[in-house]
This record gives sequence, C-alpha cells and structure tokens, in this order.
Amino acid sequence: MKTHAVILAAGLGKRMKSDLPKVLHPVLGDPSLLWVLRSLPPEVEGAVLVLHHGKEQVETALRAWEADGLLPCPVTTVDQGEPLGTGHAVQQAAATLDRLGAERVVILCGDVPLLTRETLQRLMDHPAGLLAMDLDDATGYGRVLEHGNGTLAGLVEHKDASEAQRAIRRANGGAYALPWAPLRSALAGLKADNAQKEYYLTDAVVAAAAACPVQVVACAAEELLGMNGRADQATLQALARNRINQAWMEAGITFLDPATTLVGPRAALGRDVVLEPGARLEGHVVIGEGTRIGQGCILTDCEVGQGAELRPYCVATRSRIGSGAKVGPFAHLREGTELETDVHVGNFVETKKTTLRRGAKANHLTYLGDCEVGERSNIGAGCITCNYDGVNKHRTVIGRNVFVGSDCQLVAPVSLGDDSLIGAGTTVTQDVPAGALALSRSPMLMKEGAALQLREKLLALKLRAQTC
Ligand code: UD1
Ligand code: CA
Repeated sequence: MKTHAVILAAGLGKRMKSDLPKVLHPVLGDPSLLWVLRSLPPEVEGAVLVLHHGKEQVETALRAWEADGLLPCPVTTVDQGEPLGTGHAVQQAAATLDRLGAERVVILCGDVPLLTRETLQRLMDHPAGLLAMDLDDATGYGRVLEHGNGTLAGLVEHKDASEAQRAIRRANGGAYALPWAPLRSALAGLKADNAQKEYYLTDAVVAAAAACPVQVVACAAEELLGMNGRADQATLQALARNRINQAWMEAGITFLDPATTLVGPRAALGRDVVLEPGARLEGHVVIGEGTRIGQGCILTDCEVGQGAELRPYCVATRSRIGSGAKVGPFAHLREGTELETDVHVGNFVETKKTTLRRGAKANHLTYLGDCEVGERSNIGAGCITCNYDGVNKHRTVIGRNVFVGSDCQLVAPVSLGDDSLIGAGTTVTQDVPAGALALSRSPMLMKEGAALQLREKLLALKLRAQTC
C-alpha cells in the first residue's frame, strides 16, 4: 500500500516563547522535526509537512538536512495559512496526498520527537490504528473511548469532555495510520462546532472509523510526549539521554557519569569507548574502538579513530581525528581540521582547515589556520600561522620532518620545505627551501652589571619620593 506521512508543524508553539519554530528546537542536538522524520519506516514513500509559522526557517533546515542525506524520504511542504485546527491542517495536505497517489497516511506531530520506529511499525501493522498512552493525569489531552474489542469508539477533547470522560486515563497520542480514502471523505465533512472552534482531526478519525475500524495501540507515554514548553524540552532531553546512554552501555561503552553525558541520536561508538563526565557528542559523530573522550569535551560532526585520547575540555567541530591521536586538554579543533594517525595536539592549540599528517606534533599554545603540516614535523610552543591579511585567507604548507622553533610567525602564503628548521622567534616571510635553516634575529645586547646599577637607581628614586 502506498503510504505517505503527514507531519503537523504549523502551530505557533506559543509556550516555547521563542523566535525559533517549535519543531526546530533540539533534543540532544537534533531538532524535534528531524527526530520525527528519522523515525519513519522505510515503507513510507514520502512526507508532507504542514507548515505556517516559521515556514521559511523550517524549509531552510529541510534543505540542509536533504543536502546532508538525513532525510529518509522526499519531503513536500504545504502552507496551512492561519492554523484552524489539526483537521484543517490535514485538509491542506489533501491535494498533495492525492497527487502522490497515497493509499494510506501516517499522521504525526512535528513536536513529538521520541516516538520510535518500532512503535510506528507496530501501529502500521493494523489496517487502521491510533497511538494511545495511559496517564495518571491526562489533563489537556483528548480521551480515547474504546469498544470492548480495543477498537476506537470515540475521541473527546479535554475541553469538550464531561466529568466522567475526564476520569478516563487513556489519552490520544495524536499519531494515526489510516487508509486515505475514508479519511479524506471524513475531512470534507468537518465542522468547527466545539469548545475551541477548531476543525478537529479527531472528529475525522472517528468518522473514518465507521468505514474502517481503528485499532487503539497503546505505547509508553514518553514516546508521545510533546514539546510544548521549555520544561517539556528538558524532560525530553533527559528521556532521550537515558534511552541512548542505556543502549550504548549495553553495547560496551563506559560512561563515568551517564547523567551528565550527552550522546546525540546520530552518534556511532565503537567498543570500549570511555566517555568521561560532561562529554557532549552532537550530530554525526563516529568514535572508534577504545578511544577516550575526556571530561567536558564537545564534539560536533566529528570522526575519531581507534585508541585516540581526547583529554578534558576539547572542542571539535566538523573535524577528523586519527587513530592513536592525543588531543588537549583545552584544544580547539575548528571546521576542516584533520589529524592523521598518532598526531599530538596539546593544550591551548587552535586549528582550522588544517591537516596534520601522521605523527606531526603541535603541543602548546599555537594557532594553525589554513595549513598543512607534513609527517613527523614539530611545531614549537607559541607558533602562529598569520593566515589572514584582513581581506583574504592564505595557506601555509609545511613539509615533512620540519622543526619550527618556539614563538614563530608564519606569514602566509608561505611554505617550509621538507627537513627545514626554523629558529625560535623567527618571522617567516619567504618560502624556506628543503633542508634550509631560517632565522630572523635582531642582535642581542649584553651589558655586564647594568641590572644591579639600574635597580639601585630605581630604589634610590623611590626612597626620595617617600621621604619628601
Ligand atoms: C491534539 C489532539 C488530542 C491529542 C493531542 C496529542 C486534536 C483535535 N486533538 O491535541 O486529542 O491528545 O493532539 O498531543 O487533534 N497543528 C497544526 N495546525 C493546526 C493545529 C495544530 O499544524 O491548526 C499542529 C501543531 O503544530 C502540533 C500538532 O498539530 O504539532 C498538534 O497540535 P496541538 O495543538 O498540540 O494538539 P491539540 O489540538 O491540543
Ligand atoms: Ca490545539
């Protein structure tokens, strides 16, 4: 059966009190809507996203996800116009669903991120189904009325419910899988004659159930929790963290403190990885076997090889770190950094669009930008690539086995040939040939005894000032 998803995301999200559309607010680094899209099972051929508030921002995000290959299926957007209710939202998707030849629709909310693919699959096992959860306090949710055989008898919104109906604990999760034809006819007949003067999707679902019985499928409440405010966002983040960390611990990962360690949903970790307290892995992060990620390290879209060590408080973004590399503490690897096998990058070193080839070292207080460092070369303490002339960025190319002494400035564009040696304190302004020694030194002055004389003079002046 040709199945398409409809994802509702036109609501204003007033309670978030934010300039960012609600569905773009992140949980463990990934926006809520991306979680929802990722949960779609493979038989879902496409998704229609119903937008209005913040439409441009969501569409920009969609284009970026598509470019990064993060979308499981083609996504079309429709503008709901002024949102008049969940039923009105799906009505706006109808023409697109017809055009796509949809036979079945899966309807989800863009602000309910933790619904799993397994649960969706369980819902889709039925010709028609609705997800429900049992809550101690279901205030605000629609209540589910059931026939004795577990099929749907009715849905009543909290605001329209009687006292007796409000006592029902089974709440509507707002996720449905339904044949399109009966739902389509039911949507055409919707009226907004209810407490909220909205077109309720729930009314259409109940009407469609006359033609095709709708199975009520219960699932864990956490999977249906929506992000309505910042408190919900924090709760979702904690639930996601628990779920993900638990799974990684079962897969052989050590967490020194799972409560403070944030591993995003797109991370892939090898066996015997150790994550120290406060480590945060966001986006596409791959970490090889036996690698240790130190306390407070933040990695975004990074790949790290096997047996590497990131000492505490390193920040790395869109970078690759090779096997056996040692990084930090307090290193900053910015976008486009590539550290090959066994590279050492030490404390207070910043890199950007820079490759350090196998075994190269930059151990202390250094900036390497738009730079390449050849195999086994050593960059001394306090070296700086002067890569920016205020208008353009220029490259520095350092060959193999080069020794750059401490406190050198490499004024780009410039190259240092293989086996060259740059004396401490040199400002390199010309290319250095292979095997050459480059030095820039102003002559040093030596005055025997002058320090003692100067100190005596200064003390005498100070005494005179005090006695006056
Ligand atoms: C809806 C259900 C309710 C269920 C609850 C689960 C209806 C009438 N009620 O409640 O039974 O318990 O979900 O969370 O469907 N949206 C639009 N356009 C609109 C209105 C809403 O796109 O015109 C989107 C929102 O952005 C949100 C989703 O639909 O992503 C759900 O809307 P929300 O207002 O949170 O749901 P309720 O109507 O309160
Ligand atoms: Ca509403």
